[in-house]
Amino acid sequence: MDKMTLSKKEFALFQDYIYAHIGISLSEQKIYLVQARLAKRVKQLGLDGFTEYYHALLGDTSGKEFEYLCSLISTNVTSFFRESKQWEFWKANLSTMLAGKNNRLRIWSAACSTGEEPYSIAMFLDENLPNPAHFDVKILATDVSPRVLKEASNGIYGPKAIANLHQGYLTRYFERCDTQGSYGIKDAMKKNITFRGFNLVTGNYDIFKHKKFDIIFCRNVMIYFDKPTQQTLVDKFFEMLNPRGYLFIGSSEALTDARKGLKSRSASIYQKV
Ligand SMILES: C[S@@+](CC[C@H](N)C(=O)[O-])C[C@H]1O[C@@H](n2cnc3c(N)ncnc32)[C@H](O)[C@@H]1O
Repeated sequence: MDKMTLSKKEFALFQDYIYAHIGISLSEQKIYLVQARLAKRVKQLGLDGFTEYYHALLGDTSGKEFEYLCSLISTNVTSFFRESKQWEFWKANLSTMLAGKNNRLRIWSAACSTGEEPYSIAMFLDENLPNPAHFDVKILATDVSPRVLKEASNGIYGPKAIANLHQGYLTRYFERCDTQGSYGIKDAMKKNITFRGFNLVTGNYDIFKHKKFDIIFCRNVMIYFDKPTQQTLVDKFFEMLNPRGYLFIGSSEALTDARKGLKSRSASIYQKV
């Protein structure tokens, strides 16, 4: 077999590794996709094939190769104000959600990719809170991939990323960075956001022991996890939500096995009751 063809045995090694360390469950059909993505890295490192790469991955105690693998395997597609119906729901229910909050809001964007989601949250709140300056808002934005986190904290977006963003948002919350059509999010929209690395599957949830959230956004990532992993994650989110807090998930990720205590409020929106 050609050394740049991923054998079933090699695929199984990566399948197990990726499941254990990232939580992503890869079906047998993904063999060609994994082969294509890893082949580039194998060539780049001048290795002899996938088995050698697998050993390099296991032997890399710096964690750098794991980080690289994360960016090769996971899909980072995202956009500003993705899933428009959820933003409409939030706008329509914002005043009820704020009742009893004492102007304090804690929000977690749990797989934030390149930052469009947490910045959309910040812009949404600035635009819709009755008096934003009087609110204590904190947004935690996490992802497993350091590469996307870096882009997120830079907050600079090219013409493609901002193409569908309403002109009003662009004018109010961004400034032009160059002549190529890139825009940077203003510092005022960054100041309430903390970006940090966190692996939803293997991460140590003790760091959240004293944190409770009013809304958790975990959108378009659970789809890559299998049912038991999804279930464990939803149980954790449940614990981390304040009473009457909300969980927003991706529109293709409905919680089929309803979790006791989480009530569906709208498509892909659940509330702790
Ligand atoms: C498709 S993006 C979704 C981004 C955003 N939430 C949205 O809906 O537009 C999925 C993100 O999940 C991240 N991800 C994948 N596995 C993860 C894990 N085990 N822990 C944390 N983040 C993970 C990826 O790095 C990627 O940035």
